Amino acid sequence: MGEAPQGLTHFLGLGDLAEATWHALLADAERLAGPAGREPLLRGRRFGSVFFNPSLRTRTAFEVAALDLGAHAVNLQVGGGLWSLEFRDGGVMDGEHAEHVKEGFGVLSRLLDALGVRCFAGLKSLEEDAAEPVLSAIARAASVPVLNLESAMDHPHQGLADALTLRRRLGRERAKVVLTWAPHVKPLPLAVPHAAVLAFAREGHQVVVARPEGFDLHPGVLATAQRLARAAGGVVEVTADRRAAFAGARVVYAKSWGPTGYYGDPAGGRAALGRHREWMVDAAAMAWTDRAWFMHCLPVRRNLVVADAVLDGPASIVFDQAQARLEVQKATLCHVLGVPVPEEGP
Ligand code: CP
Repeated sequence: MGEAPQGLTHFLGLGDLAEATWHALLADAERLAGPAGREPLLRGRRFGSVFFNPSLRTRTAFEVAALDLGAHAVNLQVGGGLWSLEFRDGGVMDGEHAEHVKEGFGVLSRLLDALGVRCFAGLKSLEEDAAEPVLSAIARAASVPVLNLESAMDHPHQGLADALTLRRRLGRERAKVVLTWAPHVKPLPLAVPHAAVLAFAREGHQVVVARPEGFDLHPGVLATAQRLARAAGGVVEVTADRRAAFAGARVVYAKSWGPTGYYGDPAGGRAALGRHREWMVDAAAMAWTDRAWFMHCLPVRRNLVVADAVLDGPASIVFDQAQARLEVQKATLCHVLGVPVPEEGP
């Protein structure tokens, strides 16, 4: 999902990103963490972010990335001053939507040099979410590069940031990395766990997805992650045996997601979630590991997903993950705009 038909470079997902691009983005992000990250590499460029859903980290990181690199950022919140958008083709627009995505993003493409989009899963139909209807329609309508700021099925900037965070801890050492499902009060989308498993698979880690029965990732994404892991010398396994998964782990990445069997049934999904409250990551579970670091994309619900003692403890690297968002988002902006990132000086 990287190259758009018009020859534009979009950044839409981690699944089919070229391996060379993955490594180049991580290398550029590391360079941009240094003095290059405050050079006016994008002077005069205009970057827009369109948010269909809330955000703290992604929104702020893109604004700061643009500021640091000399670009101008425009933030647009759907439902907060933007016209409500229609995505269906060929329909009669006699409902609530005032503007079609073709005109909306066609116009934004005339005014801006690149566009970021956040559009969460609808959580009504897994098949429909897997087709990424909103992101795909926007990528078709835009004539400038589009960046995925979290879509129905992927959160590629989070995956990049998480991989960068681990490289800073491990170098290129391969480790046992557990992506553990965690409890929540409502079914959440699959985008972050998908990005995590794809990112850690690309890095060649031993990735173990620990989840209760019924909480599988999308089978197509899992198959892609397993293929990427094999190519990188790693593996992706799935288990419901939480204790065995944690044993010997160097990293515990917690995230909640909804049970795919209850997709489109929030009440059933909430009931299924409530049966596994013991999956919260606490100090006892972390003691099964090999002094693992604790990771989470944030925002996180304390003492539901993770206990205070773990989140506030020395093993927690969640702020490092959030910091890395700035550096990888600078890298993807330079990438889609075709601006080379200078090598570090002597
Ligand atoms: N992790 C993340 O994407 O955070 P926000 O939802 O606050 O942007």
